[in-house]
Amino acid sequence: MSVSQLAREIKESPTLRLNEEARILRQKGEPVIHLGIGEPKNRAPIAAILGSAAKLHTGDVKYTPTDGLPSLKKAIVHFVEEHYDRLVAPENIIISTGAKQCIYNALFTTVNPQDEVILLAPYWVSYPEMVKMVYGIPVIVTPEDGTFHPRLEDIERVVTSYTKAIIVNSPNNPSGVIYSEEFIAEIVEFCERKGIYLILDDIYHTLVFDGQRAPIAYKYTDKDLENSKLIVVNGVSKVYGMTGFRIGWAVAPRKLVEVMTNIQSQTTSNASVISQAAAEGALTGVQSVIENLRLTMQNNRDVMMQELIAFNGIRVTRPSGTFYCLPDFRAYSNDSIELSRFLLEKALVVTVPGVAFGMEGHLRLSYAGSVNDITKGIERIKWALDPGSPNEIYIGDRKILRD
Ligand SMILES: Cc1ncc(COP(=O)(O)O)c(C=O)c1O
Repeated sequence: MSVSQLAREIKESPTLRLNEEARILRQKGEPVIHLGIGEPKNRAPIAAILGSAAKLHTGDVKYTPTDGLPSLKKAIVHFVEEHYDRLVAPENIIISTGAKQCIYNALFTTVNPQDEVILLAPYWVSYPEMVKMVYGIPVIVTPEDGTFHPRLEDIERVVTSYTKAIIVNSPNNPSGVIYSEEFIAEIVEFCERKGIYLILDDIYHTLVFDGQRAPIAYKYTDKDLENSKLIVVNGVSKVYGMTGFRIGWAVAPRKLVEVMTNIQSQTTSNASVISQAAAEGALTGVQSVIENLRLTMQNNRDVMMQELIAFNGIRVTRPSGTFYCLPDFRAYSNDSIELSRFLLEKALVVTVPGVAFGMEGHLRLSYAGSVNDITKGIERIKWALDPGSPNEIYIGDRKILRD
């Protein structure tokens, strides 16, 4: 079969593949624990359900404007004002099928073939592939001090005349780290000065713990939005736990939004009107759903940390947000793909290899599931790896010996 050279270069999403493997194993009746999941287990907010059901009941299920429903845009204007203290116009907003499509639209709009896009390791798995999909070149910057926090000096070192954009994701998937105020201030100033687009993937923006807040990039630019290089991406997937509705949005200068809208009009047109109605419901309904989800994730984070701290040889950075952590498993293996496969086969636990995020020797563990999944999952991983842990374990109703 003949497929294009570009298509051949694009890797499948490892997280979506693992979801599929876990689903197949579960279908066969295997007691799989999924510590790879990228979504909370909550029910969709009632206001979202009612909003989408009301739209469906009208029977008037048609195209919307490509850049989104005016009423949803209005709700997003309020959201931006409330969470970012910035007044933006509806013309600064494009609504897409998930934050994923926003990021792709932004890259398509800004990157020429052979332009470079700087990604900060650990990075979200989709960034390098999306950059390649617009014929750009991903340039990875890895912190040399073993932390998950980037430094401007390392970024400056790789900037060339081809650097078109930098993607910043904080709170960060996979590490859960929130980048510091100083770093956000520096990178905003740097990008504005150099004319480099700064794509801020803020999909976990309010999913933060212990009273911390994720820095707001707008605070550090004195340019008005139309002349700024900032493209801020957000959505309802993570903080409202509405991944299946597939609604995200980008806030950017009008001229960029116009081009992003052209691109979207030639690919997917608009995001589904039913989902846009759901997102509008979520944004205008009671906001305690965000806080409830945040508290659940903070509690789950605490349970995960308790389990990992008591795990021989594992080093872990305490996440300040999201629902992931990225422990260092190099005491057991330097090959995260092999390790992840071993844990799935031996212990029926799904983990995501760190190499997919640019951090070999680590595994991304999600605490978006139940407390029971977290404790049982880590117990199984310990059993599989640590000879100091008890030799026997129950996996489902099977009693198994390690040796
Ligand atoms: C960092 C990051 N950005 C974007 C997305 C995609 O969000 P959406 O489901 O809205 O497309 C994800 C989902 O895992 C993510 O982790």
